[in-house]
This record gives sequence, C-alpha cells and structure tokens, in this order.
Amino acid sequence: MELVLNNGVTMPALGLGVYQSAPEETTAAVATALQTGYRHVDTAAMYFNEREVGEGIRRSGVPREQVFVETKVWVSDYGYDETQHAFDKAAAKLGVDRIDLLILHQPATDRFDRTVAAYRGLEKLLADGKVRAIGVSNFMRHHLDELLARTEVVPAVNQIELHPYFSQPDVQKADDEHGILTQAWSPIGGITFYPGWGADRKNVLEDPAVGAVATAYGKTPAQILLRWQLQHGRSAIPKSTNPGRIAENFAVFDFELTAGDMSRIDALDLGVRNGPDPDVPRTELFNRVIPEATT
Ligand code: A2P
Repeated sequence: MELVLNNGVTMPALGLGVYQSAPEETTAAVATALQTGYRHVDTAAMYFNEREVGEGIRRSGVPREQVFVETKVWVSDYGYDETQHAFDKAAAKLGVDRIDLLILHQPATDRFDRTVAAYRGLEKLLADGKVRAIGVSNFMRHHLDELLARTEVVPAVNQIELHPYFSQPDVQKADDEHGILTQAWSPIGGITFYPGWGADRKNVLEDPAVGAVATAYGKTPAQILLRWQLQHGRSAIPKSTNPGRIAENFAVFDFELTAGDMSRIDALDLGVRNGPDPDVPRTELFNRVIPEATT
C-alpha cells in the first residue's frame, strides 16, 4: 500500500522501525524485512544504526531504488549548514547518494530558531535533489504553526507517537489541515513495554477490546493495530528484530476492519503520552554529538 506525499512522491505506508534495534541485530532485521516484502525503513542518526540499515539493504538483494529510506537529523546538528552536513553524514553511513525522506527528529524548544534554520537546511537539500521529501517528527500544532510561518515547504510527514492509547487527535487534525501525512511511531504501543520506560504502563496489545477484535478476524492484536493505522490513512513503522514478528506485522493487507471495529479502537484513547513531551527540552541529550561518517 502506497501513500502519496504532498509533493507527489510515493511512500510505502508500512515501514520497518529500528528504534532500539541493537546495531548487531539491525542488519539482519532490515534484510529480513526487505525479503519479506517491506520496502520502507525508518531510522535516525540518534539511533546510531544507520550503517547497519545500509548494510541490511545491500544484504537483502533488493535494489536500492526499490527501498524508501527515511532518517532523522538529530538536534545537535540543527542549523542551516549543520543540517546540510548532517545529510552528508547520514548518506555516507547509509551508503546512499540520496535519502528518500529526511526529517527533523523533534522540535527543540530551547533553540527553536535553530530548529527553523535546520528546516531551511532541509529545504535546500530538497532543492538540490539530495532528498526526495522532507518533514518533521514530534511536532505539535503550535510547533507546526510557527515553523510554517517561517519556512516555504510544507513538511511531507510528521512522525508522532501514535497508538490507540495516545492518538493525538489535535496533532492529526493540524497535520490534515496542512496536507501533512501523519506517520505513527510506536504504532503498536511498543513504547509502553520498552525496558526502562516504566513498568506501570498499560500495554495496548493486551487491551481486551483489541483482543476481541483480533479473535473475531483471526488476526493478532499487533495486526489489528497496524490495520487500524493503515485504514486511517497513516503511515506506520512497527519495530521488530524478530523474523516471525517482522512477517506478522507485514501480513495486514488481506483483511479490512469494519467501521464499527475502527471506532471501537478509536475509543481507547487515554490522552496520555508515554514517550517524551516535545515541549520539554532535554538539553544533555540534544547536545549529544552525532559522529562523522569517517570516524
Ligand atoms: P521485538 O523486536 O522483539 O519484536 P513499536 O514499534 O510499537 O514501538 O513496538 C515495538 C516493540 O514491540 C518491540 O519491543 C518489539 O519487540 C515488539 N513487537 C513488534 N512486533 C510485535 C508483534 N507483532 N507482537 C508483539 N510484540 C511485537
């Protein structure tokens, strides 16, 4: 299933996520996913596994031009020139000439001017043909409003925390109003069970309503959640390093949820964020340096 971005570029709706994929596992996960049929991989400079993603693409045997490669610029590389150099670093690590979608990892509220300058750097990369589309991640409505007032190119994508327990209707609405595609990170709610993210959090994969829908369709809860994302017209990038689950997460194109079941899942929103609040600066983390490709 392909989505058409606001600049006409097409992007496979479902991609492999590699956040918290250990470098040594990432190459195998990417190769497996591409051999399974995925054609989109989402990484980030801050995940420190772009090299392994590139290696996985080459190892898969799938031609580079058939794979949609998405990565993110980290905050320490924000700035007009810095962000253009961040492209060089990412492209060299990935082993590609062009990146399909390059996005800002998050708004940096302790340096929003630099965030805007970084976005202008993305606009330049787009104009130079080094990237096919540009966008943002973790932007809320007010961040988008400010960015759009100060830049030219409307982001193609806004990648946000989005699963049934936190579906961010206001951000989705803001994205829709501007023609920005919403892309879900933590699309099956994985953020609630990553180690270190708080043992008291509820896992949406164990939600009884999701379980009941899964039983009715003979599908797994993860498949139901991914189908829910896709039927809403979103992109989703589930992370897995497990070959069985990588395949499971891609087997979501042979069934359709009814409007009633979609609404049942929509109704689960708790309005409570599990990941970091984009308005709270994390200065120490923001300043973490992304190594040069040569080091
Ligand atoms: P693993 O890599 O061992 O499969 P999210 O993308 O929503 O953040 O979810 C990622 C988390 O969910 C990871 O911990 C991943 O672990 C796990 N996961 C991925 N796919 C499935 C699945 N189909 N069923 C259960 N857990 C899954």
